[in-house]
Amino acid sequence: MKYIIEHMEQGFSEWVTLEYAQIIRDLGASNLILTSLPADTKKSDIPEKLLELGLQWTTKPLTEITQDFTDLPELKQQRVCLLDPRAKEDLEPADADRFDYFVFGGILGDHPPRDRTSELLQAYPNLLVGKRLGDKQMTTDTAIRTTQLIIEKKLPFDKIKFIDYPEFRFNKNEATEMPFRYVLDTNGKPILPDGMLELIKRDSEQSLDDLL
Ligand SMILES: C[S@@+](CC[C@H](N)C(=O)[O-])C[C@H]1O[C@@H](n2cnc3c(N)ncnc32)[C@H](O)[C@@H]1O
Repeated sequence: MKYIIEHMEQGFSEWVTLEYAQIIRDLGASNLILTSLPADTKKSDIPEKLLELGLQWTTKPLTEITQDFTDLPELKQQRVCLLDPRAKEDLEPADADRFDYFVFGGILGDHPPRDRTSELLQAYPNLLVGKRLGDKQMTTDTAIRTTQLIIEKKLPFDKIKFIDYPEFRFNKNEATEMPFRYVLDTNGKPILPDGMLELIKRDSEQSLDDLL
């Protein structure tokens, strides 16, 4: 199964880099393609860590990826699924046979959500079929992890264990609540990309410093 992230942010923040790195580790580099990078993007603009992990990327839009990656299946109308928080139907295990590609918006989770994913539906109206992953906003790596569980492990959405808006406590005085839904691991802990907890802690210390 092939996964595409239409990169819709400017450049690569540390947050996005940690998410994409984790997604490559979860899917395997050959199953992920990052599309629609700005036309003037050079290899030196891509974070070293992502190149080391084997990131496949292109400045072409998703409709033209087979020009750069010739062994990929052709993109056929209605066989490309957009994971869209505004879609009417939830993704289910039987969708594994309906789709060849799963497409995600490479968008930071703004709170409240701004519904930028729908820009993709407007950009590729005949190609994409929208499916939802429940009614809460997930980070991009969580949305891909959930899709993998449903499509590859054939786990129905309601059998996946999630936590909504977890609080990460760093010490007696410092805690940060994340306004997203996360998949739980076997120890009942939310799954975050490697290094993300440290970044959240650093960001929360920074915002405390800004207040002082
Ligand atoms: C952090 S979300 C961005 C949501 C963003 N605030 C927006 O304006 O749409 C990143 C991507 O994960 C996927 N995603 C996140 N939550 C989802 C949900 N509940 N259902 C379907 N897809 C979801 C979508 O592909 C979305 O573009």
